[in-house]
Amino acid sequence: GTKMEKGLEKGAELAETTAKKINPDIMTTLDGRPLGDNYNSISAGKQGPLLLTEDINLYEKNAALNRERVVPRVVHAKGVGAFGKFTVTNSDMAKYTEAKVFESGKSTEIFCRWSGVTAEHGNSDSVRDIRGFALKFYTEDGNWDLVGNNSPIFFFRDPVKFPDLVHSLMRDPRGLKSWVHRWDFWGLTPESVHQVLWLFGDRGIPKSYRYMNGYGVHAFSMINKDKERVWVKYHFHSQQEIKNLTSEEGIDLSGKDPDFFNKDMINAIRSGEYPKWKMHIQVMTEQQAEQLSHDPFDVTKVWSRHDFPLIEVGELEFNRVPESYFQDVEQAAFAPANIVPGLGFSPDRLLQGRLFAYRDAHNHRLGINGFQLPVNQPRCPIHTYHRDGAFRMDGNGGMGPHYEPNSFGGPQPDPKYADPAIPINVTGPGMRYENHYGKDDFMHAKAMWEMFEPDEQERVIANMARSMKEGTEAGVNSEPVPELIQQINLYNFARVDEDLGNKLAAALGLDLKSSMDVGRKTLEQLYSRQTAGTHKDL
Ligand code: HEM
Repeated sequence: GTKMEKGLEKGAELAETTAKKINPDIMTTLDGRPLGDNYNSISAGKQGPLLLTEDINLYEKNAALNRERVVPRVVHAKGVGAFGKFTVTNSDMAKYTEAKVFESGKSTEIFCRWSGVTAEHGNSDSVRDIRGFALKFYTEDGNWDLVGNNSPIFFFRDPVKFPDLVHSLMRDPRGLKSWVHRWDFWGLTPESVHQVLWLFGDRGIPKSYRYMNGYGVHAFSMINKDKERVWVKYHFHSQQEIKNLTSEEGIDLSGKDPDFFNKDMINAIRSGEYPKWKMHIQVMTEQQAEQLSHDPFDVTKVWSRHDFPLIEVGELEFNRVPESYFQDVEQAAFAPANIVPGLGFSPDRLLQGRLFAYRDAHNHRLGINGFQLPVNQPRCPIHTYHRDGAFRMDGNGGMGPHYEPNSFGGPQPDPKYADPAIPINVTGPGMRYENHYGKDDFMHAKAMWEMFEPDEQERVIANMARSMKEGTEAGVNSEPVPELIQQINLYNFARVDEDLGNKLAAALGLDLKSSMDVGRKTLEQLYSRQTAGTHKDL
């Protein structure tokens, strides 16, 4: 439309001014030596060998090119990012939190990176997958990262299972992706049924990143000025409405325009169609958490919207695309451990596991000083005693004291920022506790199945059956899934809901009763092995 044309005009203008600025400058080497030639390598005589050590430009250009790639993220490698603002519309947030980012009417600069979980850099966007929705709020008390997904739940509760999930989702020893490994891991991890059902529903392939919701997934804390804590879950509702693609549409778009999701976000923002999300929270008191019939910190389940209604908090608007994808998007670093006063964590084990995983990943991917990159830099002063490390460039603490405590007036902690204790009674030996295997694992998946309209139910069954029987579904085309693995998965879905079990059995062409027997036997053996070394007295 006309907005889009305006955006393109703006882009042309930018190119022109950039060109004007650059043209009069003389090309140099990295060290600033003006260059006389960028077209003809130096050789010893007309047909002689190249003088590589002498030809500084030839060497430098290739050396720089050879080092252009940094380690990609192990998951979520392809994404798109944008800057924007978060504005608080709820004037009553102080009762929950003293976090300055939630002060009435306040606007805070934000950055979001949307991504595909299994997406590698060159992946097509419109595959069946979960999407990342990673937010960075540049608050006056430091960066708050809410590293969420477009689905409100996750595959399991224990972070020790994450590397296995990622191996099953990503490339196998042959270098190929495989439905066999995915269904095998899911089948033997029955608490994943809720997430798998979600994945095979319509939201498993959004139309683009603009048309999906975001979720913080875990329970987090909000703490007010009286140091009272409530548990909260974050929801981000797309103001572009929810739109999805069918498997066929996703496969078609994958071929026609593999970068469609990234392009759609960039074009929308550049043409002035700023995407927006409304932030809502669900709030649960500590007392309500104790009385809830299921574990409120179990990330395979949701909080009932009826008992814990959505409360509108504010609006996110994205209005600027980074000029350099590499600088601001590839090198962005989000960590669930980045939190600010007034906000906090929860006993959710998966969250606990994530608190160290991301920092560790950043140290590998960007180095210990990656926080200095413009996209990662807090918009408030930083005072630490950390020094040195590769690529230190923030002054490195100057002549100030480099240890604490010290008698030279260096920065000190302020007890007013101490967190209140997490209200958990820790008793019992430190050992491996049985992780509620099999208990309540299916009730929320059942609710989701019942919420799907009949036509969505049909698509879920068709998509699951095709990916198992034929090994094909948007994004991956592999060997068919062996019958034993199909039976185990069928057993899990039949435990979710009778109707779901019957329909899936019919679509797979499997006998339900004998599959149930095989599945039950396999999983009972697995449970007894998995729980043999655990503490039983919960
Ligand atoms: C990326 C680990 C679960 C959302 C990553 C990365 C790691 C990781 C290592 C790459 C980080 C980087 O290189 O910057 C884990 C572990 C999990 C877990 C150990 C569970 C134990 C989750 C869950 C969510 C999630 C439950 C959603 C609520 C994301 C997102 C990214 C990401 C959005 C991409 C961030 C970006 O755009 O830079 N995860 N993850 N992960 N993870 Fe997780």
